[in-house]
Amino acid sequence: MWSSSAVARNTAVLLTISLLQLARGISIVKSGVSNYSFPDDFIFGVGTAAFQIEGGWNEGGKGENMWDTKLHSEPTITVDHSNGDVSADSYHHYMDDIEMIKKLGVQAYRMSISWTRILPNGTDNNINQEGVKYYRTIFEELLKANITPVVTLYHWDMPTPFIALGGWINAKVIDYFEDYARVAFRLYGDLVKMWLTINEPNENCKNTYEYYKLPAAVKLQGVEIYICTHNSLRAHARVYRMYEKEFKPDQQGKVSIVLESAWPEPNDPNKPEDVEASENYLQMQIGMFAHPIFSEEGDYPRVVREKINNMSRLQGFARSRLPYFTDEEVTALRGSADFFALNHYSSMTVSPLKEDYYWKDLSYYNDTGVHIQVDPFWTRSAAFWQYIYPPGFRKLINWLQNNYKILREIPIFITENGYIDLGGTEDYERVDYYNDYLYQLPLAIHEDGCNVKGYFAWSLMDHFEWRDGYTIKFGLYSVDFNSPNRTRTPKLSAYNYANIVRTRRIDFDYIKRPENLNTTTSKLAK
Ligand code: NOJ
Repeated sequence: MWSSSAVARNTAVLLTISLLQLARGISIVKSGVSNYSFPDDFIFGVGTAAFQIEGGWNEGGKGENMWDTKLHSEPTITVDHSNGDVSADSYHHYMDDIEMIKKLGVQAYRMSISWTRILPNGTDNNINQEGVKYYRTIFEELLKANITPVVTLYHWDMPTPFIALGGWINAKVIDYFEDYARVAFRLYGDLVKMWLTINEPNENCKNTYEYYKLPAAVKLQGVEIYICTHNSLRAHARVYRMYEKEFKPDQQGKVSIVLESAWPEPNDPNKPEDVEASENYLQMQIGMFAHPIFSEEGDYPRVVREKINNMSRLQGFARSRLPYFTDEEVTALRGSADFFALNHYSSMTVSPLKEDYYWKDLSYYNDTGVHIQVDPFWTRSAAFWQYIYPPGFRKLINWLQNNYKILREIPIFITENGYIDLGGTEDYERVDYYNDYLYQLPLAIHEDGCNVKGYFAWSLMDHFEWRDGYTIKFGLYSVDFNSPNRTRTPKLSAYNYANIVRTRRIDFDYIKRPENLNTTTSKLAK
């Protein structure tokens, strides 16, 4: 039995936790239909990326990219030793994909072009007509079905020849990226009116050059990540300005870059240092990319510049590990986006790192100065990194809206958001995730005045999830990776999403969860 002092102690702990939960905006389960609806001009979509679904790795004249090459030479880098050779085989089944998208009833499809499918060596002196035709057919078929293609140019599949040059840490790659983008605009700009230059450059730079999770890593922690950051931003600006000058007058399309962040909830919202840690996290994670493009003054955020300069000085560097833009680059970057493209999946709790040890080791993590934990009350998905806290989505959107005035004029599109499980079509937890996260958007729009105009569920179907291979799933459609046809089957979440798209409201009871279902994710906060 518990002693009375232990009971008192536990009661105090529970009370503190409940107060924290309240402060973090967690309330109880919702049922029925949401009272807010999505505005008429709100666009629903669904997304994929070439390497994650296409397969056909050496078919139709395609050249190798860094994933092809690395996974063939070192299969153990994926947890299941798998690769993307066939994947969901969208190279052959793209018409099935389009049928699936039609069934969802969405207005837009986000997909990416595989750089080496249209330029096998990565360079524009050799254009692969079969690859060119492949994407042209998809875009035409999408448009026939009234589905707007939203196209990412770089979704992490660097042409292999550029890997020997260092990939994004070699500024020369910016030129080749610009050449590739020009070819894509010339070939498809009559059909594609929404372009995304680079997908999540923050995660790409971190995973490739800091944590060595993606192929192509060279090892200079705390240094290369910023060269990659710098070059990705310069590459984005180059492509944006090139489109503006050479194509926009005729094609009238829009261009942006995809940025990503989890929501960093202050560990204790009443502690100013935890609130500051949250701000520091955001500035390092997303502000480093968003500030040069979306702020009025441009360039890296002051806090980021100061942090990395100070740390570099302490560590004995004669120059900052964060490179400087030229004045021309600052100008080219400022305003180089026609909308804000945001990816969001998860939340964390944050507090400051302890000063006495952290600065000594060179790393991005130490530069942030932020200690990352999670709330014990949040449930986790099948991925170690995904913690479910729907209000974090709304808070992140509000943070962007409050930080960048330009977002009153240009809209925010959520270009990725989705739930990870281990597979199966009875995906009640994914249904809950989509309901709970999507519900945050009408709140952000109607109650907070945020300028969110679209949402893309991630993803259309189960796919190759980078180093996790095929072990974890994101799809609204399940893919049987053991069947030669890669048979696709709608999950409950597909029916649920189609209902949201059709009714423009969230019906929390549309998919009824069986009473006795034993699941790890409970319905959470609204
Ligand atoms: C972001 C990436 O853009 C996408 O490729 C990936 O599948 C999701 N995050 C989930 O990890």
